[in-house]
Amino acid sequence: MLGAIKRELFEGIRAAVADAGYGHDVDPSAVELEAFDDEEKGEFSSAISFAIAADAGKNPMAVADELAASHRERGLPSGVASVTVVNGHINYHLDVERMARRTLSTIDAEGSAYGAREREDPDRIVADVSSPNIAKPLHVGHLRNTILSDALMNVLEERGHDVTRDNHLGDWGTQFGNLLHEYVEFGDAEAFEADPIAHLLELYQQFERRDGLLEDVAEFGALTDGFETAVAEERAYHVDDGKEWFARLERGDEAAVERWEQFRESSIERFEAIYAELGVEFDCWLGESFYAREGWNDRVVDRALEDDVAMRGPDGSAFIPIYPDDYDDGGAPDSDGVDPSLDRAREALDEAGSVEDAAFDAFYIVKSDGSTVYGTRDLATIEYRVSEFDADQSVYVVASEQNRYFQQLFVAARKMGYSDIHLEHIDYGMISLPEGSMSTRGGQIVTVREVLDAARERARDIVAEKGRNVEGDEVDAIARKIALATVKYGMVASNRGKDVTFDIDEAVSLEGDTGPYVQYATTRAYSILDSAPAVPAVDGIDPAAFNDTDYNLLYHLGRYPLVLERCEERYDAAPLARYLLDLAHVFNSFYHKNRVLDAESAAEERLVLTDATAQVFENGLGLLGIDTLAEM
Ligand code: ARG
Repeated sequence: MLGAIKRELFEGIRAAVADAGYGHDVDPSAVELEAFDDEEKGEFSSAISFAIAADAGKNPMAVADELAASHRERGLPSGVASVTVVNGHINYHLDVERMARRTLSTIDAEGSAYGAREREDPDRIVADVSSPNIAKPLHVGHLRNTILSDALMNVLEERGHDVTRDNHLGDWGTQFGNLLHEYVEFGDAEAFEADPIAHLLELYQQFERRDGLLEDVAEFGALTDGFETAVAEERAYHVDDGKEWFARLERGDEAAVERWEQFRESSIERFEAIYAELGVEFDCWLGESFYAREGWNDRVVDRALEDDVAMRGPDGSAFIPIYPDDYDDGGAPDSDGVDPSLDRAREALDEAGSVEDAAFDAFYIVKSDGSTVYGTRDLATIEYRVSEFDADQSVYVVASEQNRYFQQLFVAARKMGYSDIHLEHIDYGMISLPEGSMSTRGGQIVTVREVLDAARERARDIVAEKGRNVEGDEVDAIARKIALATVKYGMVASNRGKDVTFDIDEAVSLEGDTGPYVQYATTRAYSILDSAPAVPAVDGIDPAAFNDTDYNLLYHLGRYPLVLERCEERYDAAPLARYLLDLAHVFNSFYHKNRVLDAESAAEERLVLTDATAQVFENGLGLLGIDTLAEM
């Protein structure tokens, strides 16, 4: 209901501004939700008077008085008791009894749909989620991605959009040529059978290590010419053969494809086991290979060249030049901000003599050896999403390491003429465990498996130590849910852009700012409800019986839909995670300060309130993919 009031207040202010004859644009951000019972600011306030006064050369206090008076006269929304002006701010104070009644009846009526929105014209959103590379284990970075994207897509769906989750696997590219080479030379069918990902990772690292070593030797300068030639030959033997394997793969050569398919399928099988454990699903797994094998790469390459958006380099490669000013609003959904012509690039290339030195960035779509690259597949993906999905948005949950790349991709896409689709890189920071930061280099990766096992073990200790009335098999089942709450909450609690150190010992605690803490608050609500004979009907209770602690809790329940709105605006689940933590704190203090079951007054009212709180916990935790627990 706070969302509805906020909207009505914004409309009222807009009308008041127009009535007063100010030609000022008012948008919904003119009204802000404040804390509950803020004596000065009220629950909602607006600072619009300052901007209007500045435009009109007036005093902001006078403008605020004028607008407040006009708004009062037009009538305040139902649920708002009064409007005041303090220091030029227009402040609105809730009618708490009305708020209580409206909030409780809305939650009662909507139940598990409380917070959800229906739209006449939802956006069709196709999202890259998880998207690991095959032949390598899932590491904590993927864990953050998978959990964040699942929660965020749940929220976008709850907000009424039509979401397709695409696990855009990294399953194509020169590295798989290298891996095929290495496997053919050194692979071991038994080792592959036993643990495909481990074996392939080993081979891949061996290839890289050798190549790096040979490069160092070549750079250092060999002792004799013969030695130098031998080093160069050895390097070429592996690298050229790797390239040849990838070329075969791109040509559809049967032997190459068959082996590659084994790599891919065995990787997917392992990934799926982990996804199942996390309770995460996808609508499709197209992967980079799809666009290569189904002709989508060729389609975009041909078109880019035909339309003179891409040009050939001196070595036969093809790229889309990106000029420095293209970046200014490169991701914006219209192509006006980018210069698709090649004239500047041709001139710059003439002047500099090489692509590397020229005054533009080259977004490659074909390498000199004719093979495609990562960026080709991403342009092909956009083409596919536009033409096959008729997508309104193509969004990418991908680590912020790739920020620059996505800026370039979006500029290139605009140059290609994809101007109506909203492109969004939903980036997120690095995740490390306290021991140090993760990196796939040098084999020092922390896998998802390790993190999940560690969380499970800690959770089991906690249940064994603190669990009431739980025994045997139940301990395991509960520990599993607590472990998931630990990991899932930990992955989304910080704003996604931030780097995070994930400390399992802290994250599993029932006392800190953790998932299990929120879970525990919910269990407490359930146990109150369990001990009550029945939850009374909302219509029968008297909201005047509530005290300020109750109203504070009601206010938090009422703001839940606004939190989801904020998540949508920011493409982040962190506001929801933080909200649930706040709600848990507020509910705990409600529980400690008030009597519920044996209250002298308001016992019925508080049961209804507790029931509504449990519902909001369920809805919010559900979106984060966290189960609630009847016992813990
Ligand atoms: N597979 C890539 C990686 O692990 C991420 C892919 C992201 N999606 C994309 N369309 N580029 O780095």
